[in-house]
Amino acid sequence: MWLKFKRDWEEPESAVTPEALFKQRRNIIKGFGVAGAASLLPATGQAASWFGGDDEEPAAIVRRALNKTDIPPLHNDALTPEAKAISHNNFYEFGTAKDDPVKNSRQFNPNPWSFTIDGLVEKPLTLDLDDVMAKMALEQRIYRLRCVEAWSMVIPWVGFSLSDLLKQVKPLSSARYVAFETLYDPEQMPGQKSRFVGGGINYPYVEGLRLDEAMNPLSFMAVGMYGKTLPAQNGAPLRLVLPWKYGFKSIKSIVRIRFTDVEPPTTWNILSPHEYGFYANVNPKVDHPRWSQASERRIDDAGLLGRKRIDTEMFNGYGEQVAHLYKNMDLTRYF
Ligand code: MTE
Repeated sequence: MWLKFKRDWEEPESAVTPEALFKQRRNIIKGFGVAGAASLLPATGQAASWFGGDDEEPAAIVRRALNKTDIPPLHNDALTPEAKAISHNNFYEFGTAKDDPVKNSRQFNPNPWSFTIDGLVEKPLTLDLDDVMAKMALEQRIYRLRCVEAWSMVIPWVGFSLSDLLKQVKPLSSARYVAFETLYDPEQMPGQKSRFVGGGINYPYVEGLRLDEAMNPLSFMAVGMYGKTLPAQNGAPLRLVLPWKYGFKSIKSIVRIRFTDVEPPTTWNILSPHEYGFYANVNPKVDHPRWSQASERRIDDAGLLGRKRIDTEMFNGYGEQVAHLYKNMDLTRYF
């Protein structure tokens, strides 16, 4: 399975627009600035153990990852300005307005952090994020993020392949799905305390994938973005990134991953099953019952939110990597 796919996001630099490259470089350089990286972390001392466990500065560990795989984006996309990607968020645990998460997550402390991988596995594990940072090969991947609300961004994530993490627990042959769960901590997450603030969701936020989707090389666990550790509002310290699916599948601040033999319940599907399916693959031909999915607003340099309206692509442009997962499936039914 691994060797079958060409890593198509690894395009030569010559294929990338000068603007995208320039911005990527500028962001990487910015990300290495000790002050820049430290400003997003609880404290420098804690940050060092958060990002690697050894004596190396977190920014240096990220730099090592970026040097190894300085990967330009797929499709000649220009990066979304960092300031927008970290201030226009969906993270209902901190409120439902786009600017709520950045405001209401200031006190959120993701350090120390541990999470469990269990269920139908040979070797259940509880992992400290330090252990994970020490074990996993970090890399940067520039991916599109398409929200079901018809806006999109292009974000340089830092993290590691989800399948590399999942292989550590040796899934049993009976495992068919992987379930994910966000932290439940109403003291730190005001949306979990009040149904009004949290949009009526029954927390914790949960998500799920079929096993083959989880093992697809595109499935990514992010621990950073723009060359820095993840800000709280973007899902610190550890979140999923699934570029061919609507953004709500990319669950944030993960504390549990569980292998199961039945399709796990997912938050938005529970809330409104006729609007949000389990699969949630980006599909311009299957509209949301209340709006079209044929196009999207790309959040860019222009104006407050960005002006450019572009056509939405099937699987968000990642069809070559993932279309085979859904062969012979009726995607209007399994939306
Ligand atoms: N994860 C949790 N736990 N809670 C949420 O409300 N929102 C989802 C997803 N992950 C959400 C979540 C939605 S709808 C989107 S579009 C993306 O996060 C947004 O990610 P971003 O804020 O980093 O752009």
